Amino acid sequence: MAKDKKETILFVDDEESILRIADKFFSKKGYGVLTATNGCEALQILEKKKIDCCFADINMPEMDGLEFAEHIRTIDNTIPVIVMTGYPSLDNTISTLKNGVVDFLIKPVDLKKMEWSLERVLRERRLFEENLLLKKELEKKTALEKLNRELCCKVEELYVLNKIMSDVSRIRTGFDMYGRILDMVMELTHADESSFYVINETEKRALKVLSSTSTGSVICGNSDAMNPVEELIMETVSDEIPLLIPENKGARGLPLEILSFMVIPLKIQEKVFGVLTASIKKGDSRFTEKDLYYLSFMTQRASYLIENFALYEHINQDLISTLEAFVKTIEARDPYTQKHSSRVTAIAVILAKALDCSEEEIEVLNIAGLLHDIGKIGIRDDILLKPGSLNNEEFDKIKEHPVIGSEIVKKLGLWDREQKIVRHHHENFDGTGYPDGLKKDEIPFLARILSIADVYDAIGSIRTYRGKMESEKILETIKKGAGTQFDPSIVEVFLKLCGEGKIS
Ligand SMILES: [Fe+2]
Repeated sequence: MAKDKKETILFVDDEESILRIADKFFSKKGYGVLTATNGCEALQILEKKKIDCCFADINMPEMDGLEFAEHIRTIDNTIPVIVMTGYPSLDNTISTLKNGVVDFLIKPVDLKKMEWSLERVLRERRLFEENLLLKKELEKKTALEKLNRELCCKVEELYVLNKIMSDVSRIRTGFDMYGRILDMVMELTHADESSFYVINETEKRALKVLSSTSTGSVICGNSDAMNPVEELIMETVSDEIPLLIPENKGARGLPLEILSFMVIPLKIQEKVFGVLTASIKKGDSRFTEKDLYYLSFMTQRASYLIENFALYEHINQDLISTLEAFVKTIEARDPYTQKHSSRVTAIAVILAKALDCSEEEIEVLNIAGLLHDIGKIGIRDDILLKPGSLNNEEFDKIKEHPVIGSEIVKKLGLWDREQKIVRHHHENFDGTGYPDGLKKDEIPFLARILSIADVYDAIGSIRTYRGKMESEKILETIKKGAGTQFDPSIVEVFLKLCGEGKIS
């Protein structure tokens, strides 16, 4: 039966009659047949043609079959060689095996036997090649898997670093910054506890100000002698290099309940001002170099942010002090409204807290409350201080103060939210207020809070144009204003607080 894929066989024999017979027989069977009468000629063929199997006589002139087999092995050790001899001897047999000959036929050789031998060795060769291929593929697969693992690690690392950058950049205020940083430490490293310490430069001590395991500030007394944790912290502060103790065996006096520990210094302008610590207290996982790398990266990003906030707070505080002096000057013009701004702020803050406002909102309200009437600087004394009722024209002038005030705050370039509250603190819930006639949700929530506090304090104080109102009457006025002048939901909370004596 003709074969689909013709393998090529090389016959090497000094007896040309054998070559002719083999050529005829195997060509008919579909094989490609090449012949050579000696080893040298055969090697020349091998250099030019691709051969799948060789039949070689042992006894040949110039180069015998065994020498030829040895040559083939050096060219391509996958080519099977079948030797044939009319004079079998033990020496020959041993030599053929040494040379990697795959079969040994004794002359005169039956063509059928040659064919069986050929089929067998070709089958074995195919298996050998397949094995080689499989081995190569396996090696490739292993290398690919290794690359893939490395790639996954890099991708994960980039993901974590990216997440750190975006988490840090999402911190918009200084209020919850340290709490958020501790949360990030816990999330990044799977620590059981994380703390933030501030360094007291004069006393060379570390002061724990915040810990993930307790709410609010935990100020540790520094009167006692340093414990091992504090010693490690101070060591890190002087080295300015992050510290990693992957497996705590108690060697540095660290309590054994801490299984794994890290200390990372926080720097502002190259100076360590605090540290973050992370501890593992249960389970089998331990901190690694990678955790230390992530935390160092995070604290570096956070340090820039802390520096910015510190700078901002400083400018902010300067500005607030200046404006405070400004407000005092205005209030000094009008003895009846003295300390009105600070009282309004205090009431508004109590109300805001009861309404579950965030710390950030409370801070906004603190500034806006202080500055809400700052626009009165632009109102003439004869109107501002006029005893008795104001006429329409004069009242229109008074009504300009929220706009003047918001313009002053706007010019400072800070405090966008505060500026809006100053502008809208005289808007009415039903849209009848000034300057923009906003209603309901259009009025900023904090402005709606401030509005009630403002009116409550104003009508409760002795004003130039009306006497002091009785406290019951004041509450009645506020109650009546619910839904028209004021947000009814805020009025409800306000009245409740008054009833409980929290606002007086
Ligand atoms: Fe006002």
